[in-house]
Amino acid sequence: MTPTLSSIVEQLQQAGQSHLLGFVNQLDETERQSLLQQIVHLDLKLVNQLFAKHRDATNPPAANIDTTTNLGITPPLALRLEAANTLSGVTRSQALAEGERLLRAGKVAALIVAGGQGSRLGFDKPKGMLPIGPISERTLFEMLAHKILALQRDYETTIPLLIMTSPSVHDETVSYFEEHDYFGLSDSIEFFCQGTLPVVDSQSGQILLQSPHTITVSPNGHGGMIEALVADKLLDKYQQTGIEHFFFGQIDNPLSPTCCPELIGFHSLTESAVTLQAIAKQGAQDKTGNIVQMDCRIQMIEYTEMPTQLAQQTTPTGQLYFWAANIAVHIFQTSFLQQLAQDPTALPYHSAYKTVAHIDHLGNQIQPTEPNAIKFERFIFDALPLSPKTTVIEADRKLVFAAVKNHASASFNTVDTCQQAISTLHRNWLIAAGVRVDMNIKVEIDPCWARNAKQVGERSDLPQTIATDTFLKSSRSTAR
Ligand code: UTP
Repeated sequence: MTPTLSSIVEQLQQAGQSHLLGFVNQLDETERQSLLQQIVHLDLKLVNQLFAKHRDATNPPAANIDTTTNLGITPPLALRLEAANTLSGVTRSQALAEGERLLRAGKVAALIVAGGQGSRLGFDKPKGMLPIGPISERTLFEMLAHKILALQRDYETTIPLLIMTSPSVHDETVSYFEEHDYFGLSDSIEFFCQGTLPVVDSQSGQILLQSPHTITVSPNGHGGMIEALVADKLLDKYQQTGIEHFFFGQIDNPLSPTCCPELIGFHSLTESAVTLQAIAKQGAQDKTGNIVQMDCRIQMIEYTEMPTQLAQQTTPTGQLYFWAANIAVHIFQTSFLQQLAQDPTALPYHSAYKTVAHIDHLGNQIQPTEPNAIKFERFIFDALPLSPKTTVIEADRKLVFAAVKNHASASFNTVDTCQQAISTLHRNWLIAAGVRVDMNIKVEIDPCWARNAKQVGERSDLPQTIATDTFLKSSRSTAR
């Protein structure tokens, strides 16, 4: 039953959010109904609790860390690049064989989160539609789809691809894939939409209005994926079809090692609930999450919460002691996701200062230049303390990480730096295979032509020299 206007008014008064009806008398009937529906679906108690928690926790200390003794915090136990080739008795070649077996047997799905607003980038479409191929200008979505196609071809398998969207990008994302015939993945692709939470004024906690009849909301973080999977019953669905492991990645890293067989194999043979791919931090102040061991569990400490004294510690050979950076590449056992799904609200909320346009109480458009609002988000890595066993595998940054986060004016994680990283990696693959590549040109390789250095080396049609910008692709996207 739809609540009456008077009960809505009362609820808003009790919650101190009556301003949401400030323009109700100026709205036409459709707008009025729309606004009332949005209000009815708000969890006002939760929003007020989250704001109170945020307000009471200015400068929260990093969890239980004694910065003088490092008590309770160490770098993670991990398979490091320069270390022996085994982890818990599992060799790299055993891991590769196991990952390939699981892929062939159809036991692995890919879950890519693409519901973010991409506000730092300043691109007016879903981030996945950003053209990023250094020469091809293929979009992030297209590059992802081609990686899956190439894996499916190599392992004669189907890899279900689940893409998480959010309300503001859902329709445009699905239409984009439809227009491109799902890049050949129509039988195995699935879209699911995460929830949202209202955005509040950072001083007063009042929910912001985007227009007189529209509440400002933002997606509830990539941790919102658990609730969203549960809502659409997707874990049950894929578990029933035999999916034992989910590769998790983010849409904005085109070098993400999607469904990397070796990573999946280590995860499986070590019987881990979660496996994290880590890279070595480049400096103590890197803006990436820190993977650490705390209270006998692998956990994440955000760079904003890592005490500088700890971040700067070095080993006797001058390496960073806390070396492990998170690139949001994980493998999850389906059974662990099912465990999380038992209480999809268990992950805590984090608050973030953002610059958000809105209207004021007179209806004037306000376009702030400084952060003015708080968004609330759940992060998937908060599931780590709940994992009975977590494994960390280091990868070479150049092979697995080229995130695109920032506007062109920034110095890192931009379209430019991302394209350079792709081109440099592909150039190195070609050079290793004996091709002479002019230093001043760009190269790009489609995964359906070669997924890695080894496959480049195996090609029978390698050019001897590349002297102009070159995009190497198969005539048919799935052929080699
Ligand atoms: P980011 O934290 O980098 O956020 O997301 P963003 O939305 O892309 O960009 P900003 O912060 O607004 O500039 C990392 C990944 O998590 C996804 C994003 O789509 C991206 O792939 N994500 C983020 C979601 O799927 N949902 C969210 O609510 C937040």
